[in-house]
Amino acid sequence: MAAKAKPGLYRDLAAQLEALLEGEPDRIANAANMAALVYHGLPDLNWAGFYFARGGELVLGPFQGQPACVRIAWGNGVCGTAAARGETVLVPDVHAFPGHIACDPVSRSELVVPLVEDGRVTGVLDLDSPKLARFDPEDQAGCEALVRVFLRR
Ligand code: SME
Repeated sequence: MAAKAKPGLYRDLAAQLEALLEGEPDRIANAANMAALVYHGLPDLNWAGFYFARGGELVLGPFQGQPACVRIAWGNGVCGTAAARGETVLVPDVHAFPGHIACDPVSRSELVVPLVEDGRVTGVLDLDSPKLARFDPEDQAGCEALVRVFLRR
């Protein structure tokens, strides 16, 4: 994908997400539709979905892709690290990330955006790719914008 195409792609996805979530307050339904939109709208993904904070750990939510690990301890793996920091974690090579949790051995790079509401992390959006260094700062900015749309609902 040409780098300069990404901002426009993410603007289109944000507009589609606004339309998909319009008037619907149910978080599970909205997470399911957002996972499907992102999975089918972005190239070179093998997984896109959510983990939600439940009782001090992360529990699998709506997603697209192969079945995944259900529970992730706070601070573990890429997802747990993003949750513990309250910051996006972009991993160009998951094999070089200590503690990466390999749900699907095909995954080579990963982007995890935390859901932060009223200063608390309530979950994460997790994207995986079979391509090395699939995600860059434009993907980070684009996915953070999508998460802001999701959290407004
Ligand atoms: N790789 C993640 C685990 C979730 S799966 O990729 C869907 C991690 O290290 O947190």
